[in-house]
Amino acid sequence: MKGLILAGGRATRLRPLTHVTNKHLLPVYKKPMIFYSLEAMARAGVEEVLITTNPEHAGDFINLLRSGADFGLKLSYEIQDDSVGGIAQAIGLAESFAGADKLLVLLGDNIFTHDLSRAVKAFEKRKKGAMIFGKEVEHPEHYGVIELNGDRVVSIVEKPKRPKGNLAQTGVYFYDDRVFDFVKRQKPSGRGELEVTDLNSFYVKEGTMIVEVMDGYWIDAGTSADELLAAGNRVAELKEHFS
Ligand code: DAU
Repeated sequence: MKGLILAGGRATRLRPLTHVTNKHLLPVYKKPMIFYSLEAMARAGVEEVLITTNPEHAGDFINLLRSGADFGLKLSYEIQDDSVGGIAQAIGLAESFAGADKLLVLLGDNIFTHDLSRAVKAFEKRKKGAMIFGKEVEHPEHYGVIELNGDRVVSIVEKPKRPKGNLAQTGVYFYDDRVFDFVKRQKPSGRGELEVTDLNSFYVKEGTMIVEVMDGYWIDAGTSADELLAAGNRVAELKEHFS
């Protein structure tokens, strides 16, 4: 399995912090935000990792992370020219890197304690399909919301006004190698992005989408200055979980 970490986007919700730097380089407690995704990949046992980011900040990532050897990873870098093309567009950039392998995608602003190594092994054995991780949240309207019927995924809706339940789609996605064909079939959403929710819906329709609920702590640290601060404070309290 190969790994992909998304570190693009404009992060307008975090301005002025993100006027001249990239969100994923901002501090969360004592490390740059992207370190937590890299450590989660290493913990999961995924060694070859591609980072996608916007052209303005790609050099900063290379200066900071270099080959990835400090994390026990082999890093590659790919530029997302259109910084707001959407999460699915960034995933599409991993096509030649992933080849026929399966792909674990992490949104670089998600911080969590759940160990993904068991999920990696289980997903390797699956013939086809995708897997996402959900987490119960107080304000599901801020996220993609997963509607379940028993264990079966009925729908995933991006930031619905009236959410059907409180299970948020986190930024952890496993895909088979057909994901790139699905990206090519996508159309931009109302806000002009190729949405990860639409991408995941191909698998939902096909009946090959599996959901697992995350254990432990999870936060999308990129949604506001308050969430960024909360992430830093919580990571400081939980520091034994973040090597
Ligand atoms: O964190 C979980 C949520 O992430 C999900 O519940 C939503 O379904 C999903 O759409 C996403 O929502 P966000 O509003 O948090 O997405 P955001 O624009 O903050 O981007 C998430 C990450 O992806 C962030 O690390 C930046 C990166 N990104 C985003 C875009 C739009 C890119 O690398 N390229 C992009 O074009």
